[in-house]
Amino acid sequence: MSEWIRIAAVEDCPSGEARECVAGDSIVALFNVAGEFYALDGICPHQGGPLGKGALSGCMVTCPWHGWQFDVSSGQHQTSQSLVHPKFAVRVDNGEVFVKVSA
Ligand code: FES
Repeated sequence: MSEWIRIAAVEDCPSGEARECVAGDSIVALFNVAGEFYALDGICPHQGGPLGKGALSGCMVTCPWHGWQFDVSSGQHQTSQSLVHPKFAVRVDNGEVFVKVSA
């Protein structure tokens, strides 16, 4: 069972930026890559850093705590092939950004 939860307005997260959002019980890292939105679990799997406050360069976010990097479109860690960080499905509707979370 899952539901779509609104986490931001489109203008809250301009192109090339990241935001930390809340969806139900989840912290969500929202990214705008040239107008395309992606969302990852906002808690870095290394030591819990805030991925939504990381620097975004193209499709790559860098965790602000120790520099782990993830492809925001896939969740793939940059150097560890076995580490794929969970992502959320994203939908943009009428200027609002929604993510799909398990209820
Ligand atoms: S907590 Fe993200 S790199 Fe350490």
